[in-house]
Amino acid sequence: MKVAVLMGSPRKKDSFAICKQIEQSFPSDCQVEFEYIFIKNYNIEECKGCDQCFMKSESACPCKDELPLIKDKLVQADGIIFASPVYACQITGTMKKLIDRLSYLFHRQELVGKPALTLVTTMGGGQKPTGQYLKMTACGWGCHLVGEISIISSMYFQGTNSWGYSEKYYNIQKAKIQKTALRFQQALLRDTPPVPSFYDIYMFQGLRSKTFDSKADFDFWEERGWLNSNYFYDVPLSPVKLVWGRILRAVIDSMVKRYMEQR
Ligand SMILES: Cc1cc2nc3c(=O)[nH]c(=O)nc-3n(C[C@H](O)[C@H](O)[C@H](O)COP(=O)(O)O)c2cc1C
Repeated sequence: MKVAVLMGSPRKKDSFAICKQIEQSFPSDCQVEFEYIFIKNYNIEECKGCDQCFMKSESACPCKDELPLIKDKLVQADGIIFASPVYACQITGTMKKLIDRLSYLFHRQELVGKPALTLVTTMGGGQKPTGQYLKMTACGWGCHLVGEISIISSMYFQGTNSWGYSEKYYNIQKAKIQKTALRFQQALLRDTPPVPSFYDIYMFQGLRSKTFDSKADFDFWEERGWLNSNYFYDVPLSPVKLVWGRILRAVIDSMVKRYMEQR
């Protein structure tokens, strides 16, 4: 089994150390291989805003670079960790550039059901928007979010900035990391499809609206039988989740209908 770690940091330090802790918490007989994808080591051009990937296909993208290498690693992985430090209150520019280029995955999900974790490291600020952005990306790409880790490095690592180190904070966060890593392990080994959360269903219904004005998206969703389904895959949903999905569908459909009529 393979876990792809999508690494937004340019350096092997705080986020890398936490990912290593997750990796080391796996039992040695578990046979899970971690692959660290340091995005900064790949030649990734900036999106040119041409819309070709949305309207036609990602193969129509004018950028010819190493993006397919990273995309293939994500597709082949059994689980994904989205890891980024906070830079200026958000994910790093390196990570954002990659997510921009893979924006078509919000339209045509190729990572459906893959267990995912998000990891944010910070000196104290920006954890919330950064974590929320990574969560939205993982769920928008169809992954199954198993856990979210957020670490204040100055309080967690001794020596980084020892002014903030707290043994109490370290012990609490370490236990959280281990608990989340265990949930991730269980999700990787599970052979039944994961049950989507309310947020997953909200993303599914919201992203279905992309099929209304892109034939590429419509064909992709139609081929997979998603256009009229409750989620990306067949999974029993509780009555409350079913109703939640149907209400969202009805609201989105009526909004789009009204918008189309006004055009
Ligand atoms: C350019 C830059 C911008 C940063 N911006 C923030 C910030 O807005 N808020 C914050 O709390 N920490 C900020 N930090 C600190 C990092 O988030 C923190 O050191 C993190 O642990 C680094 O993780 P890494 O070692 O995996 O790169 C910034 C660091 C850099 C280099």
